[in-house]
Amino acid sequence: MSRVHRSAALAAIVLIAGGCGSRARSGGLVVGFSQVGAESGWRTANTRSIKGEADRRGVTLKFSDAQGDQENQIRAIRSFIQQKVDVIAFSPKTEDGWQAVLEEAKQAHIPVILTDRAVNVQDTSLYVTFIGSDFVEEGRRAAACLARATGGKARIAELQGTPGSAPALDRKKGFEAALAAEFPGLTIIKSQSGNFERARGKEVFEAFLRSPEGASITALYAHNDDMALGAIQAIEAAGKKPGTDIVIVSVDGVHDAFQAMLDGKLACSVECNPLLGPQLFDLIERLKRGEPVPKRIITKEGVYERSQVTRETLAARQY
Ligand code: AHR
Repeated sequence: MSRVHRSAALAAIVLIAGGCGSRARSGGLVVGFSQVGAESGWRTANTRSIKGEADRRGVTLKFSDAQGDQENQIRAIRSFIQQKVDVIAFSPKTEDGWQAVLEEAKQAHIPVILTDRAVNVQDTSLYVTFIGSDFVEEGRRAAACLARATGGKARIAELQGTPGSAPALDRKKGFEAALAAEFPGLTIIKSQSGNFERARGKEVFEAFLRSPEGASITALYAHNDDMALGAIQAIEAAGKKPGTDIVIVSVDGVHDAFQAMLDGKLACSVECNPLLGPQLFDLIERLKRGEPVPKRIITKEGVYERSQVTRETLAARQY
């Protein structure tokens, strides 16, 4: 089946399901969304964006928070299938482990949209589209920013995100590729997961500082802002100056990271936009109208550097 035909077929399914609908408050659409958890400021903003947009459009949203457990996500998706929702969207915790449940959704003729993170499945017809950031590019941007902030020479400690998740795998890949190709003076000397959580980032960085290499760490690459903010607490508790003794770059661009840049503690935050609600529901409505949708939609993003941050930019942050 061509992409256009597939989209038209999906649209028909959505229209038929929507047409029966005394279930929905308005628009006739019922969407099931499985969120990975609430591990970071980014995730909280993402959840707010999705719930807020569903509410604005009068879409009935069945929202499930998996609390960081992939099994909970699989259970939620199965329950959405049983409830015969019109569309399932989810942000998968890890890349692997989705084949079976996505086949069940396909058999039930329920279109699936991936938001934020990718899955690793052989049959890509198991989902309609994937909307989210280019995490490899974010890793490259973090490396370039760290090179600018350190003059191209640093001994780096890396705080990785959730093991097996697309952002952790790809941000590492992009960062390491940039180091190998362009920045030979940047060397990773420690690397461990902080699970995208502030408290875990602090604990892991405390252990880094206590390790035999601890005294020689001159930079931190954190896969998200929350872990960088936790590490800043660890650095200060150890009597060192974040931003001076240890140069820090991270990813997301959340409000607290802007504050840390304004305070001179964070060199830069690579943007990863969590406000996916409007784009997600635009896509769902396009499907409903029978329009084809692209298989991959990459969120447009930039980089925020310490020198650009002012009280005004901080006050204007939406998340
Ligand atoms: O998948 C996006 C990542 O997940 C964000 O960078 C991180 O903060 C979050 O928890």
